Parts: sequence; C-alpha cells; structure tokens
Amino acid sequence: MKVTKADLAHVAVKPEQYPTTRLPEIALSGRSNVGKSSFINKMINRKALARTSQRPGKTQTLNFYEINEQLYFVDVPGYGYAKVPKTEREAWGRMIETYIESRELLKAVVQIIDVRHPPSTDDKMMYNWLKHFDIPVIVVATKCDKVPKGKWEKHLKIIEKDLEKEDSDPLLLFSSETAYGKEQVWKTILYYCSK
Ligand code: GTP
Ligand code: MG
Repeated sequence: MKVTKADLAHVAVKPEQYPTTRLPEIALSGRSNVGKSSFINKMINRKALARTSQRPGKTQTLNFYEINEQLYFVDVPGYGYAKVPKTEREAWGRMIETYIESRELLKAVVQIIDVRHPPSTDDKMMYNWLKHFDIPVIVVATKCDKVPKGKWEKHLKIIEKDLEKEDSDPLLLFSSETAYGKEQVWKTILYYCSK
C-alpha cells in the first residue's frame, strides 16, 4: 500500500465530533505504551504524525487519521495505565465504549500486543469485549525486533492460546522499528475495509 496522504483529520471525545466523511475506520487498541501510535506512524511512513512517548498515557482522545482519502486509523488511549486518575480512566472508558458499540463504519480493531510478554488480563478482557460486540480483531504482535527470530513462533502460540483467539481473527507479527510485517498488515486491513 502506497500512502500518499495522511492527516490528523478529527479529534473527538463524543459522537458529534466523529468524521462525517463516510470512510471505513480501523481502530487501534492496546495497553498504554504498547506501541499503537508508533504502529500508525510506521504504517503511513511518517516519523511522528501520531504522537508517541516513552511515558504511558500520551494519547487521550479519539484521533482520526485520514489515509489517502480511503480510510481512517483511529488512535485511542491505551488501557491499563494505573497512573491516570480513576475519573479520567472512566471517562476514556465511556468514550471508547460509545465509539466501539455505535460506530457502524468501524470495520475492525487492530489489537496491539507486545510479542515479548503473554497477554495481560486487560488484553484478554479487551479481546473478549470486542468479540462480544462481534467486531473483527486483527491481533498485531508488535516489537518483534526485541525477540530473536527463532522464538517468534513460540511467543505467537502463547498469545493465541492465552487470548483464546478465534480462528477467523488474524494474528500477525510486526515491528515499528524494522517495519517487519507491514505489507501483510496492510493487506489484512484493506481486506476488512472492503468487507
Ligand atoms: P499510549 O498513547 O500511551 O497509549 O502509548 P502507545 O501505545 O501509543 O505507544 P507509543 O507508540 O507511544 O510507543 C511507546 C514506546 O514503545 C515508545 O518508546 C516507542 O518508541 C516504543 N516502540 C513502539 N513500537 C516499537 C517496536 O516495534 N519496537 C521497539 N523496539 N520499540 C517500539
Ligand atoms: Mg499513543
């Protein structure tokens, strides 16, 4: 996929602020600091369009990135970061819930998981919750540059088993450092956008 145009088109905290241009939407999900914003940047060949940080909790709104006038990536705040005040976490939770439950343009969620570690309790809850709403989930195991190639398969098996991943949901390796998996992930995303 050749990305020729990518802009942060909309920032939303409530439905009235969602885009009115009807394009397929792909949302990112994953624990805070797992690499959601880095994933977006690598996929669209931009160093820092989506703001990243070594400090968890950087993304605090629903950020709609319009790609090639063809689809939106929706960057959302990560879950599982204890230092964010409880009231704020609850507000984010409601914001994300409203979007996921009601947005008919949402074609799939890319759930980003750190390939180095087994899925957390939050990862499993999020996956189950998405499945409860019948949303296709593309599981992306990121930071594969941090794991020796010979161990990739073993780590993927653990993720697949712990998540109780449905067979219809793809599981793909990725690295925002090396761009490993990028074309395969694009292919998968475009498939869901066309459904
Ligand atoms: P929040 O917005 O806080 O939820 O975080 P996020 O999920 O958007 O994470 P972000 O993209 O900001 O990345 C967090 C840290 O992980 C940064 O220091 C990134 O450089 C690093 N990182 C992300 N992806 C990769 C990867 O594939 N490989 C390596 N080595 N580092 C990565
Ligand atoms: Mg982020």
